[in-house]
Amino acid sequence: MLSRRMFVAGAVVAGLGVRSGISYGLNASAATPLPVPQLIDPQANGGKLSLTISQGTHAFLPGKPVRSFGYSAPVLGPALRLRRGKTTEISVENRMDELTTVHWHGLLIPGAVDGGPHNVIRPGQRWTARLAIDQPEGTAWFHPHPHGATAAQVYSGLAGLLLIEDSSGESLGLPRRYGVDDLPLILQDRAFGEDGSPLYSPGPMGVMAGFRGDTFIVNGVSNPIARVPAGLVRLRLLNGANARFFELQFSDSRTFHVIASDGGYLPAPVPLQQLILAPGERYEVLVDFANGQRTTLLTGADRNVPMMGMMMGGAMPAEGGALVTFETDASLPVAATTLPKALVPVPAINRAKAVRTRQFFLNDMMMRGMMGGGMMGGRGAGPAMGINGRPFDMGRIDADVRKDTVELWQIGSHMMSHPFHVHGTQFQILSMNGQRPPAYMRGWKDTVIVAREAEILVPFSQPASADNAFMFHCHILEHEDAGMMGQYTCA
Ligand code: C2O
Ligand code: CU
Ligand code: CU
Repeated sequence: MLSRRMFVAGAVVAGLGVRSGISYGLNASAATPLPVPQLIDPQANGGKLSLTISQGTHAFLPGKPVRSFGYSAPVLGPALRLRRGKTTEISVENRMDELTTVHWHGLLIPGAVDGGPHNVIRPGQRWTARLAIDQPEGTAWFHPHPHGATAAQVYSGLAGLLLIEDSSGESLGLPRRYGVDDLPLILQDRAFGEDGSPLYSPGPMGVMAGFRGDTFIVNGVSNPIARVPAGLVRLRLLNGANARFFELQFSDSRTFHVIASDGGYLPAPVPLQQLILAPGERYEVLVDFANGQRTTLLTGADRNVPMMGMMMGGAMPAEGGALVTFETDASLPVAATTLPKALVPVPAINRAKAVRTRQFFLNDMMMRGMMGGGMMGGRGAGPAMGINGRPFDMGRIDADVRKDTVELWQIGSHMMSHPFHVHGTQFQILSMNGQRPPAYMRGWKDTVIVAREAEILVPFSQPASADNAFMFHCHILEHEDAGMMGQYTCA
């Protein structure tokens, strides 16, 4: 007879051989419990909050503490509850030895506080942003955005969550006990050295294809286990990876329901068995654990590598694996058991309302880069990328939009799919490759996957001057840093 003690020991030994989180057999009691970022409600402190960006120590891999970076945390950062109709004043101190910015990805706020590349926080300095929140309930996030160094800083651990709240989720009876039946999952990947340190060295091929690691981390740890009540659980999924597209599904192929996209709730839950999440995107899903069965959230292989990279033999599809395992715990109270039929209406923007059409072509391999010094074009850090033939330039405004208007943006790409993100707005997807988008993408979005072409209807309500312009860019962070970014003013 195998004693429990022996069984656990055996699992630990088996676990040592596991490298990239593909360890379905790992005993639950040996796995790392899913860490949940601390929830902070700045309104409990008069609407003020101060954050510190500094170095910490964190074990991404079990038993291997290493250097990391976080926002008032050893790694990642807290989840900030932001109430609609309230103003939150967040001040951030940069204790790193390089400059950074803090961008509030998904918030409808003016360019002056958006935290894009213009809102620099030098080492030792503090930056204060007053965020007047007026947008629907949903999940957004914050991360560094210094031009040319976003990828490395996000990779080093910097990312936090924003939970925008009105009263809609409560009146719909959705699970909303944070950390119990309302769990954020920050999905990322890393390459680790022997000592457990994240390694970041993209090189020209990693810039061209985007940098992927072979180990998945969820909320900062590999292969965690989450204990959930045996009812409906809300997962707030964020793709916080530099480049990887996650193709999510459960190990038992169970159906789950998408209830929200980047900018808030969908009109109704959308049943799915598989969900693609590109860098920067968020979806909230409801998963039913009433059957008490253990299940693992898996990701498939990421085939989003450029054709040219495949031909050159450098960029290959990245393997999939396990992200996080769920086990029910009968001692946790079940609050929600039935799926709401309807959520929050999303009135479709009429295409005829667009006052102007703009076209943006994402150049994932620019001729300038190819000719001027082979692969090492652009800023000398790797292949040059751009939009409409030009790499990003802090001193150049690429579009001036009229405030309180809607525009139709047509975005094209060539070699691979790019998640195109626009600051200062939540838009609607009109078409993807000439087709109407799937139902779960018909809500508010700030990031759209451009697989060849996409059309979006973009309302502009937030002001931005040339000094604090809004960005639009590919959210594959290596592409963004290599110049696949532009900026617009809004007045
Ligand atoms: Cu999440 Cu401009 O970025
Ligand atoms: Cu953003
Ligand atoms: Cu891209």
